[in-house]
This record gives sequence, structure tokens and C-alpha cells, in this order.
Amino acid sequence: MRQHVNPLSSNFKQIEKIPSLNEMFGDSKSNLHLDIGCAAGEFLFDLAFFNTSWNYLGIEIREKLVKNAKFKVFRKEIKNLYFIFGNANNILNDFQCKFIIKNLKSISFNFPDPWFKKRHHKRRIIQPEFVNILSNSLHKGTLIFVKTDVKDLFDYMDHTITSNFYFKKIDEKNFNYSKSFNPNKVKTNREKYVIDNQLDIFEKIYIKI
Ligand SMILES: C[S@@+](CC[C@H](N)C(=O)[O-])C[C@H]1O[C@@H](n2cnc3c(N)ncnc32)[C@H](O)[C@@H]1O
Repeated sequence: MRQHVNPLSSNFKQIEKIPSLNEMFGDSKSNLHLDIGCAAGEFLFDLAFFNTSWNYLGIEIREKLVKNAKFKVFRKEIKNLYFIFGNANNILNDFQCKFIIKNLKSISFNFPDPWFKKRHHKRRIIQPEFVNILSNSLHKGTLIFVKTDVKDLFDYMDHTITSNFYFKKIDEKNFNYSKSFNPNKVKTNREKYVIDNQLDIFEKIYIKI
């Protein structure tokens, strides 16, 4: 399976039909968390299993991973987990997805693709226009969690998010995870790899004000 796909490819312009929250989840009133670039979704399967009072939504651009994850949700009859295939920028910019952004309690960007070459920076998931879309529709108090092992990418994401007046950094040392989407601090696959290899992790939490 390809490790990297170009999110700006015209293949991703067309987005799938997005069902309502009632169709996605058993209890559409539960707190909603969105994980962007969720890969095969193992992180979200763990979260959905442990935290049944939350709903989890994953967006991933590699179609095969999403097909497999959707099939696993169906087979295991999981009612608080849903996956959408496509470029998260296009999906969340689409009018039919406004209700998703409005209902979010939190979003995570875990180890997004770094796209190291300068001419590829525009392929990075966090872009000023994308942050604007989020700031226009997110409710006050919605949290954004960002994690990466690439310092340059972290600085770029931090700068892009905080350049938007509506996002402020939270002091994560005093952050109480017990009421968050991830009270047990479950780790993503990339995070486990980074820890095993004793690499640095750069992370930040932002709040919509
Ligand atoms: C380095 S992997 C990290 C996977 C996982 N979050 C983790 O921490 O283990 C980045 C993931 O983001 C996906 N991705 C990259 N750009 C995307 C985009 N624009 N929209 C949705 N998913 C994207 C990639 O296909 C890949 O699965």
C-alpha cells in the first residue's frame, strides 16, 4: 500500500456522501472527537472501546485503510466510531460537513505527514485556509491536539494555528486529560514507534476562544 498520496490530486476533489450524526452513531448526542489522518484507525478503535460515552470520527486519505476500518466497525457492531475517506481539507470545507465541525468537542492531528521539501509544504494538512474554516465554525472551547516528532513541522503548525486570532495555546502541564477524548492517554501507532526509538515528541493543545 502507498505510504504517501498527494492530497492535492484531483482524485480527492469529489467527496463521499456524509451521513447525519444519527446515521453514524448509536447515540448522536455523545461528545464528538475527530482524528485527522487516522491511518488504519487502531487508535480510534482503542478509544471507542474504552470510552463508550464519546463518539469518534476518523478521516483518512488512503482509501483501502478506510474500507478495512469501516468493515471492522460493521463486523464488530461498534456504535461510537465512524470513518470517512478523503482529503480532510476538502471534506471539512464541503457545505455538507459543516454540521460535523459545529458538533466537535475536539480534534487531533497525530503525526501528520511532514512533506519535508519546501515545494511540498502546501500538501501539509494544516494550512491557514483550513485553520480559518475551523475557526469559523468550531464552538468556543473546542480543543485541537497536535503531535509530531518533526520539529520543523511542529513550528510550522504552531505558527499557522496561533496566527489565527481565535486559537489560544493551553498549558498542557495543567491539562486534565480525564475529561478529554483520551482519558487513558492511548497512543497512536506512530507515537509508539517514536517512543520505542526514543525520538522527541512535540505537542500542543489549542482552544477556540
Ligand atoms: C504519518 S501518518 C500518522 C498516522 C496516525 N495518525 C499515527 O499517529 O500513527 C499520517 C496519516 O495521515 C494521512 N493523511 C495525510 N494527509 C491527509 C489528508 N489531507 N487528509 C486525510 N488524511 C491524510 C496519511 O495517509 C497517513 O495515514
